[in-house]
Amino acid sequence: THVVTENCIKCKFTDCVDVCPVDCFREGPNFLIIDPDECIDCAVCIPECPANAIFAEEDLPADQLKFIALNAELVSSPSFTSISRSKKPLPDADNWNGMTDKLKYLER
Ligand code: F3S
Repeated sequence: THVVTENCIKCKFTDCVDVCPVDCFREGPNFLIIDPDECIDCAVCIPECPANAIFAEEDLPADQLKFIALNAELVSSPSFTSISRSKKPLPDADNWNGMTDKLKYLER
């Protein structure tokens, strides 16, 4: 599967969702996830993300491995719902792009 990682938090650019052929993205308050049961590993979303937040599972940096479980877990959170059309990024997205240690800001 493909995995959305930490740098999406507080950015949520949403360019990724427009290219997904199976609509496997789910939107939370300040983060997107990929439903691992629906992702077909086409990889077209990877270059679309301005925050470089999407990785194939096998290419994940070591410090982002926990996002495999997090994407899978949040699929069943009521705060995460299907999104298939892009929208405006979060207001401060450009400032948050590239900041480290954003997991503590995840809203769920
Ligand atoms: Fe997040 Fe990048 Fe999509 S910031 S919403 S994974 S385009």
